[in-house]
Amino acid sequence: MELSEVIRARRMTRNFDPRPLERSLLEELCTLARRAPSAGFAQGAELIILDGPETRGRFWELTLPVPERAGFAWPGLLRAPALVLPAADSRRYLARYREPDKAGDPARRLGESTRAWPVPYWLVDCAFVVQNLLLAATDRGLGALFFGLFRGAQEVRDWLQVPEGVELLGAVALGWPAADRPSNSVARGWRDPAAVLHWGGWDAGRG
Ligand SMILES: Cc1cc2nc3c(=O)[nH]c(=O)nc-3n(C[C@H](O)[C@H](O)[C@H](O)COP(=O)(O)O)c2cc1C
Repeated sequence: MELSEVIRARRMTRNFDPRPLERSLLEELCTLARRAPSAGFAQGAELIILDGPETRGRFWELTLPVPERAGFAWPGLLRAPALVLPAADSRRYLARYREPDKAGDPARRLGESTRAWPVPYWLVDCAFVVQNLLLAATDRGLGALFFGLFRGAQEVRDWLQVPEGVELLGAVALGWPAADRPSNSVARGWRDPAAVLHWGGWDAGRG
């Protein structure tokens, strides 16, 4: 597919076919996805991949306990054969910005603390990788959903031994798509580009 087609075709998938996903394809997608820009080329976006039934089962136990599943709107999401957890390692950014070529500006001192960063670039960079993953999946005919860890996030961190300083952004479910319905949010439609594009300033030309 052309890139513009892939971008337009990508939609979140919340119902998956139980067909397994080959590890080689999963690895190919994840390896491609990580080729994203990163501040100082720090490359602190890590991907924790859960593609076995035990690890996926454990993930769902912690984030969607069995007693709550009956009312869950997207039961087919739990069939996704792979879950990829994007993790942003801020420690790599601190280390990178302590290197001589980046540590030169004493006013910024970005290597000293995450609090010195006006924008947490480790999250920005990790989000770029996630979008790459969603697009790469679409290009290969796979379905994908990025979703938040609204429940059990600390338990997931502990179980997966995610170190301090590494932030879990959420999870990407990946697999072969089954018949799906879009979320209610999609009915909102795309905002008018004229309202989103601010040519020359926030209010410029918007009498
Ligand atoms: C940061 C972020 C968090 C999201 N969290 C969830 C989520 O927890 N559950 C879910 O079903 N969808 C989630 N979504 C998907 C959005 O609902 C979806 O992207 C949006 O409705 C537009 O639909 P589309 O991606 O299919 O075009 C999330 C998307 C983003 C970017």
